[in-house]
Amino acid sequence: MSNLPSDSSGKGGVGGPAPAAGEMARAVAQVRELVRVHSARFERSIPLIASENLLSPYAKELLISDFHSRYAEGLPGERYYEGNEQVDQVENLCLDLARRLFRCSFADVRPISGTVANLAVLKALAEPGDLVGTSRLADGAHISSAAFGAFGLRGVKPVYYAWDPERMTIDVGRTKEILRAVRPKLCLFGLSLFLFPMPIDELRPTLEDIGARGWFDGAHVLGLIAGGQFQDPLREGCVVVSGSTHKTLPGPQHGILLGETNDPEVTKKLQSGAFPGVTSNHHLNEMAALAVSLAEQIEFGRDYAAKTIANAQALGAALHERGFDVLAADLGFTRSHTIAVRVEKEGGGESAARRLADAGIITNKNLLPGDKSPKHPGGVRLGTPEVTRVGMGPREMVRIAELFDGLLHRGRSTEDIAREAAELKHDFTTLRYCFGAGEAAYRYYDLVGREPS
Ligand SMILES: Cc1ncc(COP(=O)(O)O)c(C=O)c1O
Repeated sequence: MSNLPSDSSGKGGVGGPAPAAGEMARAVAQVRELVRVHSARFERSIPLIASENLLSPYAKELLISDFHSRYAEGLPGERYYEGNEQVDQVENLCLDLARRLFRCSFADVRPISGTVANLAVLKALAEPGDLVGTSRLADGAHISSAAFGAFGLRGVKPVYYAWDPERMTIDVGRTKEILRAVRPKLCLFGLSLFLFPMPIDELRPTLEDIGARGWFDGAHVLGLIAGGQFQDPLREGCVVVSGSTHKTLPGPQHGILLGETNDPEVTKKLQSGAFPGVTSNHHLNEMAALAVSLAEQIEFGRDYAAKTIANAQALGAALHERGFDVLAADLGFTRSHTIAVRVEKEGGGESAARRLADAGIITNKNLLPGDKSPKHPGGVRLGTPEVTRVGMGPREMVRIAELFDGLLHRGRSTEDIAREAAELKHDFTTLRYCFGAGEAAYRYYDLVGREPS
């Protein structure tokens, strides 16, 4: 907004300056234009952010429905507001679809994001001062586990699992010793750099011995679990799974809780953790879009999840063949949607991610185990949910690796790589694995058809 004219007349706003004629219409037009530019940019880019995905047309449509304008606190049939009959029916359908997809007895779709879902679990199953097992941020955990994140907000104390950097997962033997010695009340399994399934089965007897509950943060891998292509934490003994609904599960930006427990007390606590614990209204338009996304996942998710993982493995192999230090090479790089590449010899995570973005390849710098300073991540994290969603396969993963190689090893120009990235993307700009497949993935929906005036 820096190029908007400033007004110091002292009128308008809350006792502030009145806008000059047309100024606010120009602000609206400017926002629209920036979002259009952004959409066009992503249409010609190669987006490899592991936590991002694209929404199907039927789900997207519901985001701008009248549900957006309404309130419905509480559970279906027990609302605090009138006018919720259709909202209740949609939410009941959404809950049914969630329970069916994840084969579980409990679902709650009121948390409005993955972090809020984590807060709901902490509110429900831990008290301030409790010890809660988790992984370290440097080993790939989400900021929810940090003192400056959800753990700190709830006042719980982290007990860190031991990490095996070669296998990029928890070191089971040493972690069992830690758990026996410290006896946390709750054990969180889940990562933002999530390459391999967590050894929950192996740790389960220890959790049972010490009376700790298992909690899985599936924000990243929810779609892979739903598609039957990853671990299945509710069958491995976790009482609750929290997650975002917009990463490997290609739904709206929202959160979810899923549970398998015979204890009605736990269910009640999780529900009251979600509301009134950490939400008031729960963004009903997103909830409706989620219902669509869950139905689409039931129909198309198995194939999509399998192809997402196959693409991540293909990208890992193609980069490794071109001299990149892809982590866990001897384990096939990954069993998820994500790979991690140590790019110290390519200038470090920050520089590599910036150069790639300038050339139309969108990634993020990432801390890797063994990094000396959190301020200078040694790696980049790459994910295949979005490129798979628009139909790319192993052949395109090799092309992407060639672009990495050209830019970061062979000194080819940013402009040339950006042009080739756009050429590659040109045939992959429509949605797959959903109803309405073939719709434009990056379309800007102009509802009014003219600029404001
Ligand atoms: C493991 C994990 N948990 C929770 C979250 C938070 O999800 P949200 O962005 O939906 O709040 C993330 C986000 O990337 C994550 O990686």
